[in-house]
Amino acid sequence: MASIVHVLGARPNFVKAAPVIEALRAAGAEQAVIHTGQHYDERMSEIFFRELGLPEPDVNLGVGSGSHAAQTAGLMLGLEREFTSRSPALVIVYGDVNSTIAAALVAAKLHIPVAHVEAGLRSFDMTMPEEVNRRLTDQLSDLCLVTSPEAIGHLAAEGVPVGRTHFVGNPMIDTLLKNLDAFDTAKVRAEHDLPARYVLATLHRPANVDSARTAAALVRHLHGIADLADLVIPVHPRGRANLLAAGLDDHPAVRVLDPLGYIDFIAAVRGAAAVVTDSGGLQEETTILGVPCLTVRPNTERPITITHGTNRLVAFEGLVPETRKALEAERPAGTRVTPPLWDGAAGPRIAEVILEFLVD
Ligand code: UD1
Repeated sequence: MASIVHVLGARPNFVKAAPVIEALRAAGAEQAVIHTGQHYDERMSEIFFRELGLPEPDVNLGVGSGSHAAQTAGLMLGLEREFTSRSPALVIVYGDVNSTIAAALVAAKLHIPVAHVEAGLRSFDMTMPEEVNRRLTDQLSDLCLVTSPEAIGHLAAEGVPVGRTHFVGNPMIDTLLKNLDAFDTAKVRAEHDLPARYVLATLHRPANVDSARTAAALVRHLHGIADLADLVIPVHPRGRANLLAAGLDDHPAVRVLDPLGYIDFIAAVRGAAAVVTDSGGLQEETTILGVPCLTVRPNTERPITITHGTNRLVAFEGLVPETRKALEAERPAGTRVTPPLWDGAAGPRIAEVILEFLVD
């Protein structure tokens, strides 16, 4: 039986887990991967496993979509069965998705230690399901593995004993740096017939796309951006119906794509003049790639991408003027100060902390 179990469910989990699994494999650890099936489309899941060299999951629970309660309940039932039969020495969870909190809660009740990768990030916005998931997962975790220094203070303020917190850096950036040579912007331009200069948008947060009215307002501003430059938008399945119903592709300069795999997506980001997003991970990836990032949210749990990176928060009304500014600005030359420990070696540091914990 494997002694370390990784629980993966949704697209961003795969990108964060790849370097951790690789480092633990290199250290000879016994490990298994449980895919919850929260994401299940080929383009939301399998393609990431292939491209990132992730091992085939030992089991896929096939939980799929549903309301928060239905999905979380399904995740918990499936994970309880697996954890009970596998009796792992440690469960590793990633990020802030429903699979993360479900796994932490089930493991804690079975007295199985939990390691949380990307602990301590806070948007302080409890209307976001991710903030609920983060806070509760950290309370249940024996190891809080931190990607950004301010997270240490957040965890301490919530009473997490300091000994549980380890500043290890950002494994999502390990994956980015490892694949830098594979991000072929010319190839992705040719394959998707993209113009030389374009803005890339990704929008899937419930607050932006779940209401038809809000989605329609967003589309009006996106059309405003498309008046300035071509707008390429790989559409996450969550917002697809509302954004298209609001006429997203009724503008000659808007190009709607299906979700892209990791390599093509980051290649498209790398080649973009600016990015418009409400994703968490993309705020970090654009920080390292030096691509201007406009985040369509009132807050971010990743403030280091503003202080050290290219990110800025914008309201709908700010989208057109801020995009114009980003398109007109000279890109700063030379090297920028990157966030500490976003250096490509977070995976091995995480493996070291985990293996030490298991020996003690
Ligand atoms: C989830 C995470 C979010 C993360 C995002 C990354 C939670 C609460 N949210 O949001 O933090 O940023 O993943 O993508 O865990 N769907 C498909 N095919 C799929 C997966 C989803 O069509 O493979 C559609 C379904 O209509 C589903 C909807 O997308 O109802 C939402 O999927 P879900 O996993 O519940 O949340 P995401 O919006 O993807």
